[in-house]
Amino acid sequence: MKLFIDTANIEHIREVNSWGILDGVTTNPTLCAKEGRDFREAIAEICAEVAGPVSAEAVSVNREEIITEARELSRIAPNVAVKIPMTTEGLAATKVLSGEGVKVNMTLIFSANQALLAAKVGAAFTSPFVGRIDDTGHDGMELIDEIVTVYDNYNVPTEIIAASIRHPLHVIQAAMLGADIATVPYAVIKAMVKHPLTDRGIESFLKDWEKLQDAIKVGG
Ligand code: E4P
Repeated sequence: MKLFIDTANIEHIREVNSWGILDGVTTNPTLCAKEGRDFREAIAEICAEVAGPVSAEAVSVNREEIITEARELSRIAPNVAVKIPMTTEGLAATKVLSGEGVKVNMTLIFSANQALLAAKVGAAFTSPFVGRIDDTGHDGMELIDEIVTVYDNYNVPTEIIAASIRHPLHVIQAAMLGADIATVPYAVIKAMVKHPLTDRGIESFLKDWEKLQDAIKVGG
């Protein structure tokens, strides 16, 4: 499974990218607003840092405006993927854009039907929001399972991005179900690295290594 980071924070992106594990980035208007800087400039900087796809969201609502905005966004860098929300206007715009070779990430996906429609208009990615479904008392991972089955049934090339990931268990579940990608917040990626037994193991190995050095010194 590919791992994307879900943030517009360039320091966090640089840090995680330096570990060699990053396959792409997703942003959204809320994440960009948090950074309080020029949106296009931020996307250009992220695209220069990360080789994989970088999702930048279009905020227009009517199809012609979405198309114009998406074309502009995709000109920022060759690795821009334009995020377009799942609406009838978004579907119509995605059909045109995907025909032109623009990579579209259809976002705010909450049902397998929406994912099926995203695939039909040629979206490169579809983003089911797992955590927001969990928040309503339902199991967001059931949606990932359904979409994986539907796409597998018809060899759909659209890649499934498990989004709205809230904790490390979500990442494991998405990987076990066969999501193509998980887009994960910085804090959750850091939590994926950690295990208390790893920390304890390192501590005891280092202590024993020091003991050996001391023993060698005394012996010598
Ligand atoms: C996905 O691309 C979205 O940016 C994101 O995962 C939304 O997550 P949230 O529900 O934590 O806001």
